[in-house]
Amino acid sequence: MPKLASYNGKVDSIENIKVSPMSRAFLFSDSVYEVISFYKKKFIDFETHLDRLKHSLNETKISCSIEDCKTEIVKLLNESKFEDGYIYYQVSRGVDSIRSHFAEESDCERFGFIEEFSFFNQSPLKVMLVDDIRWQRCDIKSTSLLGNVLQMNDAKSVGCNEILMHKNGELTEGGASNIFFVKNKTIFTPELSPNILPGITRHQVIKIIKDKKLNFEEGSYGIDDLKEASSIWFTSTTKGILGVEEIVNLETKINTECELLEICKNAFVKRYFS
Ligand code: PDD
Repeated sequence: MPKLASYNGKVDSIENIKVSPMSRAFLFSDSVYEVISFYKKKFIDFETHLDRLKHSLNETKISCSIEDCKTEIVKLLNESKFEDGYIYYQVSRGVDSIRSHFAEESDCERFGFIEEFSFFNQSPLKVMLVDDIRWQRCDIKSTSLLGNVLQMNDAKSVGCNEILMHKNGELTEGGASNIFFVKNKTIFTPELSPNILPGITRHQVIKIIKDKKLNFEEGSYGIDDLKEASSIWFTSTTKGILGVEEIVNLETKINTECELLEICKNAFVKRYFS
């Protein structure tokens, strides 16, 4: 079945959508995006994703009506037959007449597509610990992901399906997820900073941890903390909460059966997927 997509408000099969090579998304990665999941035809935390998109648009000074984005995302879901999946949606600064770092005054360019996806039964992750070589505004959900892409492809070549990044020894996040770990029956996660995307799933998981009154700390952590961790989790819109089975280049004490992980996973499924 052809993939359904939306380009500047027009929904069509993805093969029929034509994008100019003068798009600033194509030439400069001058764009921001969201990945929004839906289950049984209902969006999960839709307004929170729209708020984060608004934040990314404001921080990059891309001028775009959030109401237009909302209408287009809803239209994609309504016109699709998919019950469970996610929508990828990006907004670029626009299409210019010449290639220049200095942008022209143009209308923003909006593109999205819908994908069917099952959120259950995902396997534990095999990850590689890598240097965080990204820019200094990772709190913006920008499509400029070369730092993530290079490190993730290196990790893939040795059989990994995620990376765990550190900046000068300080843990930041995954290539496409946030991280949590358990040590001495306490759950830890790196505190938000310009080096970390404020993940919506991260926020949902913290809410669950607090509701369940589990021991929890947000702060600054290093590679030694990982070596001592009994469990490591990655969170994202598409992964939900997923445990790590191995860090290929670090000796750890990971035990894949973690009671705290099970408590959080069960509460997460109950809250968002039932
Ligand atoms: N990625 N950190 C990074 C670098 C991410 O790319 C993502 C999500 C997250 C988790 O954010 P959230 O819980 O809001 O999905 C953290 C999406 C899924 C992607 O790029 O495909």
